Formats: sequence, structure tokens, C-alpha cells
Amino acid sequence: MDKAIGVIDSGVGGLTVVHELMRQLPKEQLIYLGDTARCPYGPRSKEEVQQFTWEMVDFLLTKNIKMLVVACNTATAFTLKDLKEQLDIPVIGVIQPGARAAIKSTENNQVGVIGTEGTISSGAYAQALTKIKSDIRVSGLACPPFVPMVERGVLSGPEAKAVVSEALRPFSNNKEMDTLILGCTHYPLLKSTIQEVMGEEVTVISSSEETARETSTLLEAHQIMNRSDLVPLHQFYTTGDLEIFIEIAKTIFHESNFQMLTIKQANISTNKVW
Ligand code: DGL
Repeated sequence: MDKAIGVIDSGVGGLTVVHELMRQLPKEQLIYLGDTARCPYGPRSKEEVQQFTWEMVDFLLTKNIKMLVVACNTATAFTLKDLKEQLDIPVIGVIQPGARAAIKSTENNQVGVIGTEGTISSGAYAQALTKIKSDIRVSGLACPPFVPMVERGVLSGPEAKAVVSEALRPFSNNKEMDTLILGCTHYPLLKSTIQEVMGEEVTVISSSEETARETSTLLEAHQIMNRSDLVPLHQFYTTGDLEIFIEIAKTIFHESNFQMLTIKQANISTNKVW
């Protein structure tokens, strides 16, 4: 049987990447793990994020995955280099793809990035962007209230609007910025509110499309693309509350996708599933 692609995030955010992987790579089986019980990762130390990320990876390695997608910017910023060095399967993060998508979009080289405290303070986006184009001007802003709000299932409405408007206030005077990177995989779930607050003249970029495209390129390069025509049965795991996870998944995936997936709770420190 063909092996699956493993996808990790601190919670439900990585499902935005899964959604795009399903669309672009419909033959691939996906095994997703969201560490909802310990979410958010954003305010945690680099060492803690690295430890939790490795625990997620170890869980997925027991499922014999053929490739790993780190669908979490915070884990990518702190752990991608080690994962690439130490794993003998291809590994991809979300920061490089997000940076590439922003470079394609910007016309005046003024790019904003919003993300968790960890991602913004790591400077990973500024590095990735200037590596591609040295005259890019990058303004970073951490938005700590977004992830806990998304994990509660608040994706739109008055509360979302108030929280997003308040957090993005420091950007309201920046009339130059033409592109805004959603540097956290939870944020695409708030995309319409973020777009509304930033205004139509700003292009809001999520890294999921570009990440799925690069996943496809890597599968091809390593000759591990699934060739079977059988419909894949995806497996989703959460370390946290199953009901809330299912509710949020329902807002992301179409009804028909639910026939293609199982959702279970997992304890990744003991590797138990129930
Ligand atoms: N979804 C994650 C990211 O892309 C992390 C959110 C969090 O746990 O703080 O950074």
C-alpha cells in the first residue's frame, strides 16, 4: 500500500493546509495531527516548541509516513532545520512557500507579516523574504489573541471583527504595504475579517496553495507520488477536545470530504489513540 503524507500543527490551523493538499493532490492519503491540548505554541519558548514538535513527529513516524509537512509557522521557524537534518524523509515547512507567494504578489516591495509571537520574534519571514529579494521591506506584527479565538471556533462575527481590528491597529497607518502574509496557519480561518480590516488594496496571502504546490514538486522529485486510483482515507488526530475539533473541521471541509476521513483523539506522549 502507498504511504501517507504526515501533516502537523499546534491545533486546527494546519487544516487550512490540508484543505489545499486535498485539492491539489487528491490521490494522496494524509495523516494529520493537531496538538490542540497544548495550543498555542506561539508564546512558548523555542525549546518547548522543538520538544512538542518532535513528539508530534514521533507519533506520525509510527504511522510510517513518506513525507512531512510542518503546517505550523511557529514549529517551522524553530524546528524545520533540525527536522530536515535528522529525518530521512522529505520535510517541508510553510515559511518559504509563504515568502515566495508574497514576492510574486508585491508590486512595491512593502510586505507585512502577521504571526505568533514566536514566529515574528524569530525573524524567519524577514530572512526568507530578503534571501529571495534583498530590497524587500518587511513589517512584522504578532497577533496573540487570534489563535485562542480560532481554537474556540470563533471565525467571524462581531467578536472576530473587534479582536482583528484591535490587533491590526499598528498597521492602519501603513499606507504603503501592498501585501500581507498570514504567517500563521490559523489565520486563513479569519481571512475575510482580516481582508475587511486591511482593505481591498492589500493582497492577503496564505501559504497553503504554494505549500501544496511545493509538496507536489517534492513528491515528484523523490518519486513517491501515489499512483493508485483508490480514494484515500485520511486520518486526523487531535490531542484535545474531539467535539470542538470536529466542529471546526466542518467549517473548513465540505460535507463530502467527511466520508473520506476519520477523526480521533490521540495522546502523543503515550502514543495512545482512543
Ligand atoms: N498554527 C500555528 C502557526 O502557524 C501556531 C499557532 C499557535 O499554536 O500559536 O504558527
